[in-house]
Amino acid sequence: MWLRILAHVYDPFLWLGEHTSMRRRRRTLLHDAVGRVVEIGAGTGLNLRHYPDDIAELVLVEPEVTMRLRLARRVKQHARVAHVVDARAESLPLPDASVDTVVSTLVLCTVDDPERALREIARVLRPGGQLLFIEHVRSSSRLLAACQDRLLEPWRRFAGGCRCNRPTVELMRACGFDVAADDGAWRCMPPIVRPLMVGRAAPAV
Ligand SMILES: C[S@@+](CC[C@H](N)C(=O)[O-])C[C@H]1O[C@@H](n2cnc3c(N)ncnc32)[C@H](O)[C@@H]1O
Repeated sequence: MWLRILAHVYDPFLWLGEHTSMRRRRRTLLHDAVGRVVEIGAGTGLNLRHYPDDIAELVLVEPEVTMRLRLARRVKQHARVAHVVDARAESLPLPDASVDTVVSTLVLCTVDDPERALREIARVLRPGGQLLFIEHVRSSSRLLAACQDRLLEPWRRFAGGCRCNRPTVELMRACGFDVAADDGAWRCMPPIVRPLMVGRAAPAV
């Protein structure tokens, strides 16, 4: 029930953060999406407007039903051709080496099994393919990281399963990805989700 409510308040809750910086970050990141693109945890579709017109195919994966309905509505509004798919990042209904770009924005904090999701991403990516990501992560400040640890459970319950203290880039590297990322701040959002990593990753060859 709470997840459904969350889907309705998601865009208003993010509005200030989107308009102060996140929208620009999405646009810059997604400029590099090419070929067959799969977005995991596409949510309400805040990335949709930023995809280049010349990508070959867009597959939007979203497991939560209310999010998926809003996503489908946004696909129509933007008059985009996209396939909306009910699936989890841990089990993508896609053949091996069939995808050029995987996109994950603010999702790897929420998936239940991020290592499994990263293995799936590596499986579906073609040689030379890339994961483009914006993720909020565990802080490099000891004080803020301690706050993230302390507030993990209440935040997780409020934010639909989001683990605010997850060291996502370290997980990517541990799962065999080469990562190039910059850090940043998700402005106008609670401090525990402010530390961001933005970049690209590819399975090491
Ligand atoms: C914080 S929202 C991010 C939505 C969107 N990517 C964005 O940038 O606004 C996290 C999304 O991940 C989805 N999600 C949760 N668990 C997932 C999983 N295991 N695989 C894929 N998506 C998942 C949620 O339903 C939700 O839509």
